[in-house]
Amino acid sequence: MKENDIRFIKLLILVNGLVPLALLVWDQGHQQLGANPQNFLILTTGMMTLIFLVLTMAVTPLRKITGWNWLIQFRRMLGLYAFFYGCLHFLCFFSLDRGFSVSSTLTEMLKRKYLIVGSTALIVMIPLAITSTNAMIKRLGGKRWRALHRLAYVAAIAGVIHYYMQVKADVRQPLVFAAVLAVLLGYRLVVYLRQTKPAKAAAPAAKPG
Ligand code: HEM
Repeated sequence: MKENDIRFIKLLILVNGLVPLALLVWDQGHQQLGANPQNFLILTTGMMTLIFLVLTMAVTPLRKITGWNWLIQFRRMLGLYAFFYGCLHFLCFFSLDRGFSVSSTLTEMLKRKYLIVGSTALIVMIPLAITSTNAMIKRLGGKRWRALHRLAYVAAIAGVIHYYMQVKADVRQPLVFAAVLAVLLGYRLVVYLRQTKPAKAAAPAAKPG
């Protein structure tokens, strides 16, 4: 793919990623967020976080299956959007639901365990966002950077569990997210096992004694 096309797609992702936020701001300004605007803001930003997390996790399997290696160029932006909406999601909860009170937020976390799971997901995304720049990749070295960025799996799994735990009755939607994530992570596991098997088989047998 040409450099110009990559730049254009990046611009498309950048603009489209901001659309949900723009709609929320617009609807909030026009009092169109329904009977419980605070909850609407929390739920929508939470959903956007999860969607961007899953999209980020989909890049590598898609790239390997299709051979479209250029897809990798969009992974960072998708991941950063996941982090961005995750921060907004937390901020909506912290400000609108908890009135910026740290003690009230912590008390609520002890009461509602899914908040601890959600916070775990968001916290592990912090080092990922910090080390997402080219300079940080260089500084850490590819191997260490890749090892650190496996935390994205933790974030995605914790994000889905958090969603599942907070749903009151109908768990179908969180289960769909769980199934999609299982396929994406399962693909990675299969690739990993296939790669390590021949390496082990090729290794010379240890001499007795
Ligand atoms: C990566 C991190 C996170 C992800 C992926 C995530 C995702 C979600 C999703 C998908 C929902 C439900 C949306 C819906 O039903 O439409 C949700 C709800 C919620 N999340 Fe998160 N979340 C994350 C972190 C957090 C954190 C750090 C907090 C606060 C400490 C939090 C607090 C909440 C609350 C209060 C709700 C609404 C529960 C309710 O209305 O009963 N989340 N989140």
